[in-house]
Amino acid sequence: MRTVKIGLLGVGVVGSAVAKAIIDDRGTTERSGVKLELARAAVRDLSKQRAVDLSPELLTADPHDVVSNPDVDVVVELMGGENPAFELITAALSSGKHVVSANKEVLAKRGDELLATATQSGAQLIYEASVGGGIPILNTISNELLANRIESIRAIINGTTNYILTRMSGEGAAYSDVLADAQRLGYAEADPTADVDGFDALYKIAILGQLAFGTSAPVDGIHREGIGRIDARDFRYAEELGFTIKLIAAAQRTEAGLLLRVHPSLVPLDVPMASVNGALNMVEVEGDLVGPLWLQGAGAGPEPTASAVLGDVLNVARTASNGASQSSIDPLPLAPMVGHHCQYYLRLTAADQPGVLAQVATVLGDADISIRSVIQMDTDETAGQADLVIMTHSALEANMQEAVSRLRSLDVVVELDNLIRVESY
Ligand SMILES: NC(=O)c1ccc[n+]([C@@H]2O[C@H](COP(=O)([O-])OP(=O)(O)OC[C@H]3O[C@@H](n4cnc5c(N)ncnc54)[C@H](OP(=O)(O)O)[C@@H]3O)[C@@H](O)[C@H]2O)c1
Repeated sequence: MRTVKIGLLGVGVVGSAVAKAIIDDRGTTERSGVKLELARAAVRDLSKQRAVDLSPELLTADPHDVVSNPDVDVVVELMGGENPAFELITAALSSGKHVVSANKEVLAKRGDELLATATQSGAQLIYEASVGGGIPILNTISNELLANRIESIRAIINGTTNYILTRMSGEGAAYSDVLADAQRLGYAEADPTADVDGFDALYKIAILGQLAFGTSAPVDGIHREGIGRIDARDFRYAEELGFTIKLIAAAQRTEAGLLLRVHPSLVPLDVPMASVNGALNMVEVEGDLVGPLWLQGAGAGPEPTASAVLGDVLNVARTASNGASQSSIDPLPLAPMVGHHCQYYLRLTAADQPGVLAQVATVLGDADISIRSVIQMDTDETAGQADLVIMTHSALEANMQEAVSRLRSLDVVVELDNLIRVESY
């Protein structure tokens, strides 16, 4: 039986659940052969009421008290944000302490530097909870799937946006109404930017790309679109065509290298991703031996996230060579988004008059894009306008971007309301 002393950086939503699970034990010591003990915990505000009862001697307002404390074996970073987390993780690793983190932002932005520090010092840095909350995806890729060449990862990896899209789909409600309700119910933050604009999903796919393909992408070099342009009509039209709409984060091996992308996608109604509803997450990973796998579960929340954090802590305690930081794959170069091929859904508000379709088809044809189907949806007779929904065959992103700018300049196109990529299966 080994005793491992834990230093916590942060006792917030996740930190409180981690502290509580350590204190309550629930048979963990017996199952793992490792006794976890809380040695020190740093917070910002010592007077704040917490979801766990901690003796005041454990708490400190100085995080350096945790990272340089000789009693601490493993530092668990649950503060969030790039700074001061980067500096504190670096200090802990440099002094030979293993670090477990749930912080997607610091890992996506500074993961390379942190992993280099870990390699140099011989300490472990592992971070299962930073992607997919309770879903064991990183350790699955770096351990169970090690015999596979990973071909593709596609994921619904942000619970807030999936909750909003699920409600829009089910209720036919407007984006702004559902967002406001999600904020009232605590599913979305007061400032929802990180979620609805796709930053959170981008950090997570950057971490997955690094782990599975060895490619460290600068976060501002990854194609990112949020869900703000999705309208209730898009759900209605997509459904008539056999699809729903999800925010997809993808990392895919292509001939040009690794393509990383985050954007809303049309997903066929008959694939597993289409029925991942509410705040649930799903990661679809495809290896050359195993084929496609789907891991689904709670992508956030205190207890599921604590499950991943403590799994990492116990793994570190049991074997110092069982971590994500040990991966050393030859990195794939980054592939540009303009080389992406897929089908597209285009929704236009167009003049309801003869010849419109011919003009639109000419623009698409000139850009080497062929039309699969066209449906004229809602017509506004007073305004003399109609919704035109076009599904294309598979086309090149660069060609579609060129066509979009030419379509916008056509007199008969009142508005190009939405362009949504279609996931292929
Ligand atoms: N919430 C989830 O479901 C979830 C899921 C997966 C991953 N994560 C990740 O887990 C991390 C923590 O998330 P959370 O939701 O638990 O955040 P949180 O509730 O805001 O907790 C953050 C904690 O860190 C402390 N803290 C922040 N800055 C500090 C500083 N400079 N010095 C000392 N203490 C500091 C805060 O102290 P005070 O309490 O005194 O303010 C608080 O206890 C983030 O990286 C997040 O992305 C969260």
